[in-house]
Amino acid sequence: MFKKDFLWGSASAAYQIEGAINTDGKGSSIWDVWAHIEGKTFEGTNGDIACDHYHRFKEDVQLMKEQGLKAYRFSISWPRIIPKGRGEINPLGIKFYNDLIDELIKNDIIPVVTLYHWDLPQALQDLYSGWLSPEIVEDFENYASVCFENFGDRVKHWIVMNEPNIFTQLGYILQIHPPGINDPYMYLKAYHHTALAHAKSVLKYKSMNQGGIIGSSIAFSPAYAENEEDNEALEHYYATGPWWFMDSYMKGEYPEIGLNYYKEIACLPEFSKDDMAILKEGAELTDFIGINYYQTAMIRKHETYGHEQVKNPNVEHTDWGWAIDPEGLLYGMKELKDRYDKPVLISENGLGAYDTLTDDLEIEDDYRIDFIKKHIEACDQAIEYGVDLIAYMTWSFTDLLSWLNGYKKRYGFVFIDFEDDTLRRIKKKSYYWYKDVIENNGL
Ligand code: BG6
Repeated sequence: MFKKDFLWGSASAAYQIEGAINTDGKGSSIWDVWAHIEGKTFEGTNGDIACDHYHRFKEDVQLMKEQGLKAYRFSISWPRIIPKGRGEINPLGIKFYNDLIDELIKNDIIPVVTLYHWDLPQALQDLYSGWLSPEIVEDFENYASVCFENFGDRVKHWIVMNEPNIFTQLGYILQIHPPGINDPYMYLKAYHHTALAHAKSVLKYKSMNQGGIIGSSIAFSPAYAENEEDNEALEHYYATGPWWFMDSYMKGEYPEIGLNYYKEIACLPEFSKDDMAILKEGAELTDFIGINYYQTAMIRKHETYGHEQVKNPNVEHTDWGWAIDPEGLLYGMKELKDRYDKPVLISENGLGAYDTLTDDLEIEDDYRIDFIKKHIEACDQAIEYGVDLIAYMTWSFTDLLSWLNGYKKRYGFVFIDFEDDTLRRIKKKSYYWYKDVIENNGL
């Protein structure tokens, strides 16, 4: 049974929807620059215009209102607020988010705000290599304070970081996100700085007594061992993966097995006692654990790397090869309850698919309905198990830019015709279906 005030929501991120990348005093982000380097994104797609949400947010909020959305999660673009990352504040950036927040509240939609969804000010990348430098922690805390001061009277749900595990792995090991590095030591260092930025922001927020709740969202892929002999590899996966990412935010420590492994392969940075004390303090005051859930993983032993991921033959996969596994969401939430016992906020869940617009201008996305329905059922069972679930947010409200897959991988309830200059919005079948879910509080 979902609580009466359960947050049925949907989500987005600034770079993926706003466009207007040089408008009204906004500074450049690392994505504004990266997406313009040849060969970095799918068919050279970028967020220069995206959904043009910057100019059409009122129209988008009306679509949310009509659907009955209880909550809308969006991210604030740091370089729109502080163009150079530190120093001068951009009043027009503040105004844009004030207008959006007011518009949401006027339409009875609760704003759930992410502070960092990957669009770091390019100026800080140039100045001190962004997340690699400890200097970023203070700059981030200042940016967070500016947001709390300006929006905190109306925003009571804060997500500090979005998927720090993904942007650091993709940016510092796999080389497919900025800054395009492959160095495990730097990866661990950058990750550690995100954890410190989270902890400091939480402490700052709590010191301001604004009365809301705050946490961060981790991309969570619960996993199974392929065979019994892979159980140790599974432990290795968790200790260097999910528990590494979450323990640092939720407990203020790193798992022992992970620490030993990174020490052994000589890439463990030094984490000072002071740093660890800050992580602990921040963890204690973190109100909830945010998860973005898309899929599970299957793990096999690997002689050199401890574990590797293999394709799970027992489940179906999306067009992009992601395992479809609603039961994995239940399994994962049970693990979180047993490990952290804090409220859970699902900040993203959804299906990326090719949608077709019929001649009658309809989108029959029954596959998306089926996907979301099964995941909501898993949420219901998790609540039965005792998980304190605050929110379920789909990814995404409108179609938007996929960082690496362009505009054809669609997630939204609202179709955007990216081939048409008017960027017209069309409600999909799933839009109406979710409206009904909300009306009936998930029943
Ligand atoms: C999450 C991100 O990783 O997954 C979103 O928080 C992203 O920003 C979403 O768009 C889906 O990923 P993709 O690669 O399919 O666009």
